[in-house]
Amino acid sequence: MTANTPKDVQTPINMDALYQQLLDAVDVGIHVVNKNGESIIYNKKMMEIESMGSEDVLEKNLLDVFKFRDSQSSTLVQALTTGKSTKNAKQTYFNYKGKEITTINNSFPITEKGEITGAVEIARDVTQLEHVIKENVLNKRNTNFTFDKIIGDSEPMQTVIDEAKRATRTSSSVMIAGETGTGKELFAQSVHNGSARSSAPFISQNCAAIPDNLMESLLFGTKKGAFTGATDRPGLFEQADGGTLLLDEINSLDPSLQAKLLRVIQEKTIRRIGDLKDKKVDVRIIATINEDPVDAISGGQLRKDLFYRLSVVSLFVPPLRERTEDIDTLTRHFIEKYNNLFKMDVKGISSEVRQVLHEHDWPGNVRELEHTVEGAMNLILDEDTITIGNLPAKFRKKYQQEPGALPNNLLNLNDENQHSLKEKLTEAEKFYIQQALARNNHNISHTAKNLSISRQSLQYRMRRLGL
Ligand SMILES: Nc1ncnc2c1ncn2[C@@H]1O[C@H](COP(=O)(O)OP(=O)(O)OP(=O)(O)O)[C@@H](O)[C@H]1O
Ligand SMILES: [Mg+2]
Repeated sequence: MTANTPKDVQTPINMDALYQQLLDAVDVGIHVVNKNGESIIYNKKMMEIESMGSEDVLEKNLLDVFKFRDSQSSTLVQALTTGKSTKNAKQTYFNYKGKEITTINNSFPITEKGEITGAVEIARDVTQLEHVIKENVLNKRNTNFTFDKIIGDSEPMQTVIDEAKRATRTSSSVMIAGETGTGKELFAQSVHNGSARSSAPFISQNCAAIPDNLMESLLFGTKKGAFTGATDRPGLFEQADGGTLLLDEINSLDPSLQAKLLRVIQEKTIRRIGDLKDKKVDVRIIATINEDPVDAISGGQLRKDLFYRLSVVSLFVPPLRERTEDIDTLTRHFIEKYNNLFKMDVKGISSEVRQVLHEHDWPGNVRELEHTVEGAMNLILDEDTITIGNLPAKFRKKYQQEPGALPNNLLNLNDENQHSLKEKLTEAEKFYIQQALARNNHNISHTAKNLSISRQSLQYRMRRLGL
């Protein structure tokens, strides 16, 4: 590296530092091994691609750090041992932590006086694309929701269910709006499973999860050679042919892709990236959006023309706080679900819990309620009822700060167990002192003042009550 170092410049540049900076600035992974197969250069991008640190790799033998399948040896090792160069070779291997990596590589040997002294690999990452495609295959599981499994007797829920059921008779596009966790995915699956398309694929893709440049290949597919590493691969439209494609969070799709999507819906044909031919596809589109479509349009996240195309059938799933009648049924449903899953026998919720659940405004909607029940059932010990103490702090706090809200055992003056007046009063005393302490952030002076007793008296009582 020092052979070309200029010697007579005014401000000498440290060429080693410069090369290092260059290596770390480029957007391809660079990995160089010496003739023993030990790594001598391993740049920043390569660390990213392979999820490794330089200390994991440098000065170690390549084959001690990475595992290759028997069927596919390392292109870097090939360059080293046989002098063979490879171009645009797709390679899948594993780092020593077991993480799978897929790259497109150019590899070549370094020679000095006709002898191989090392090898270089220049790699581009395609793990992300591979991963996305695999996840999509996995996404095909668990798409068996049907209308009868959607819980909700409230009038607004029954209205949407009726509207959605009518949509099963056609192949028109459907737009489902609703806050996060309201059950949009359930509706989409139920429409598909209730339709004549039910035996064809239901494919769901979240538009927010994928970078724009990958999204286009993912939706429309690629033709071999369209870009480095591109193979003949069908996109989601082709995979969903005859069935339904759910595009989640459509407002996160890049506007230029929204325009392409619109064209596909109108012309019912797609063209793989890099291809010259169009292909006919028959796919029902269901799109979801978790904000008001009108706001999304005026905010520029949703193209108006696409919105009109998609909202032939337009469903709005109301937030849970606008259908509190459903809270009891949903709670019972989730208790049953987790009773089965956890092999438990929880019978229900206490009246305070019920009150708290009805008063909460559920920004996370049904998903939040489900998690609340699941969490409570993890905390419950021997009781067969979920009580306030089993709920997360956000619920408890609100309840405990409520003045005059006495614990259940205090309220119940007729309980069968004989308690002396003294015992009852001690419980009440403890409860009030705890409340006052919480209100005053555990400041002793303030709490004492608040309760009109002296500091010493408060401290004495706290010791006696074990607070
Ligand atoms: N009416 C319902 N009956 C039974 N379970 C429901 C109902 N609504 C939602 N759920 C449950 O709540 C969770 C969230 O539902 P879903 O994934 O359909 O929400 P979403 O509206 O698609 O949310 P996001 O916008 O965050 O994707 C799921 O676990 C689902 O099983
Ligand atoms: Mg969803």
